[in-house]
Amino acid sequence: NQTSLVFVINGEKFELSSVEPSTTLLEFLRTQTRFKSVKLGCGEGGCGACVVLISKYDPLHDRVDDFTASSCLTLLCSIHGCSITTSEGIGNSKQGFHPIHQRFAGFHASQCGFCTPGMCVSLFGALVNADKNNPPDPPAGFSKINVSDAEKSIAGNLCRCTGYRPIADVCKSFAA
Ligand code: FES
Repeated sequence: NQTSLVFVINGEKFELSSVEPSTTLLEFLRTQTRFKSVKLGCGEGGCGACVVLISKYDPLHDRVDDFTASSCLTLLCSIHGCSITTSEGIGNSKQGFHPIHQRFAGFHASQCGFCTPGMCVSLFGALVNADKNNPPDPPAGFSKINVSDAEKSIAGNLCRCTGYRPIADVCKSFAA
């Protein structure tokens, strides 16, 4: 009904009739869902551990906009009608890991793992938008991001243990 807050997380529909206005998307994910890959690092938009992909319909241009955001700064009430993707939505142990996950492991780009889901989503968002602006031919996989944009995709994500070289190598491995 019209008084409900409706949104989708990793393909699962949520409909809430009562929401505390100050609740953040990160709090909701961590406490009310099984999608706990998002992490509370700084709580103020500075570390990227809580990054999610938000897909939102733009009726003016009749298109879906996909953008990454810090879920610690995103109020739950602001995602009405949106579709949210976390690292579990990109790939998982049940349905198969995404090449992004596989390369983070293969390149030894994850140590404690706290920052990794946010990194994966940031890179995924950049790849989705790169392909949207310049569809790959054949339309399978990701192939149209350049090295610079691939590296910049994780500009808002901090890592405190493994170092950025292997992480940057993962990003660059997706560049055409
Ligand atoms: Fe650090 Fe959200 S928890 S950016």
